[in-house]
Amino acid sequence: MVIGQLALAPLPVVACRPEGGSSAAVRLQAFAEEWGLDWVDAAGDEPARFTLALENGRIGLVPPLDRPDLGTHPLVIDFAADPRFARPLARKDALARATGWKAGYRPPVVDLTTGLGRDAWALASGGCEVTAVERHPVVWLLLTDALERATAQPALAAVAARIHPVFGDVLGEHPPALAGDRNTVWHLDPMFPERKKSALVKRPMRIFHQLVGEDPDAEALFAWARRQPGARWVVKRPPGAPTIDASAPDIEYRSGRLRFDCYLAASPNS
Ligand SMILES: C[S@@+](CC[C@H](N)C(=O)[O-])C[C@H]1O[C@@H](n2cnc3c(N)ncnc32)[C@H](O)[C@@H]1O
Repeated sequence: MVIGQLALAPLPVVACRPEGGSSAAVRLQAFAEEWGLDWVDAAGDEPARFTLALENGRIGLVPPLDRPDLGTHPLVIDFAADPRFARPLARKDALARATGWKAGYRPPVVDLTTGLGRDAWALASGGCEVTAVERHPVVWLLLTDALERATAQPALAAVAARIHPVFGDVLGEHPPALAGDRNTVWHLDPMFPERKKSALVKRPMRIFHQLVGEDPDAEALFAWARRQPGARWVVKRPPGAPTIDASAPDIEYRSGRLRFDCYLAASPNS
């Protein structure tokens, strides 16, 4: 299967047959069948491939046994228990400023590269309605499993309800229909080459990088987004990285190891 410029078949993963009839088990079973994954009895049975498996009722991605550098802990998105995924966002934070939060106003955001959902969750926890687009099937599976678990928790349900996941790629053969208007903020955080000093990159992120690789079509995605109606286009970059294309951002917001390049809609008189 080809989504955008990505060839996704065969996925480099196998699945551990889930027991029981929980919704996570049903979701994992259906996913493995849809994508034609091989079944294994236990994670590690196929030492060169990732394994999708249930971990305490959550769908996790176990790194290949042959890759000790990736550790043994599965990658699980957990907005309830893991602060790496669910960080609160204050109005003074760079992402909030870049997306144009104002007192009493939160813009609608289309996150075109939702990934592990950290930005989507941060924006939704502050009150934004977020359309969350992701094209990688395994990432999509982990994300939707996490959102379903969050929906079932009273303390998180309202935030989860503001995130509207959409599977696919607007650059692909079957692009999802996305509607923006003049208030929409388009958010892009394409994969950037992993830092050389890999000790600095936490293991769950290394697993993610190994699975997804890079996004060579990031500039094309930005060009597509710029053709849509909107108020702002925000591109997340490492601090020293070049801009996503030759155009200069209108505003740069910096925060620690991150930079947000912000492009504003042209004013009607310009
Ligand atoms: C660096 S990650 C995003 C991380 C995310 N901002 C977060 O807070 O967790 C980039 C993600 O965007 C996805 N992606 C890249 N280009 C895409 C496209 N054209 N359509 C949909 N998803 C895309 C990749 O599959 C990957 O999961």
